[in-house]
Amino acid sequence: MNFSRTNLTILAATVITTLVVIYYSRQSGDQTIVNVQLPADLSAAAIAGRDIFERQCMACHGKNAGGTKNGPPLVHIIYESGHHGDPLFHRAVRYGVKAHHWPYGNMPKLDGVSSGDVTKILAYVRELQRANGIN
Ligand code: HEC
Repeated sequence: MNFSRTNLTILAATVITTLVVIYYSRQSGDQTIVNVQLPADLSAAAIAGRDIFERQCMACHGKNAGGTKNGPPLVHIIYESGHHGDPLFHRAVRYGVKAHHWPYGNMPKLDGVSSGDVTKILAYVRELQRANGIN
């Protein structure tokens, strides 16, 4: 059989399309996108942060910050502290975020979340990130 370049290109395109469709179909419902490893234990600040996170952020950012179809995982290399430092989290909550990294749309500003709350949420998210090799 003469397996031409065109055939190979079509085959590759089909495989890629299938993988993309599988990837996105797995994101339906409130299923998280990233399988987050939990640390053995959390600091007191992180536990306080987890409670606030679960009330204010989890609907979009998912259980254990693993992401949903409404918002990205925060336990993700994009949000490592060196690239997305703590001030960015404060800004995101105070002013909202215009979609730029992901296809989920904008994040609204959250008036009910104080900067003290964000500091606790950060303790939680950073401990989760570290447990997943993101520093
Ligand atoms: C209504 C859904 C929604 C809620 C609730 C929400 N977010 Fe977001 N958030 C998003 C989306 C969508 C993005 C991604 C925007 C992009 O980069 O495309 C995002 C991005 C972010 C970013 C990255 C900002 C940047 O500039 O790249 C941070 C940090 C963040 N969210 C923190 C939080 C925290 C903390 C909470 C809870 C206090 C929260 N979010 C609640 C939807 C949400």
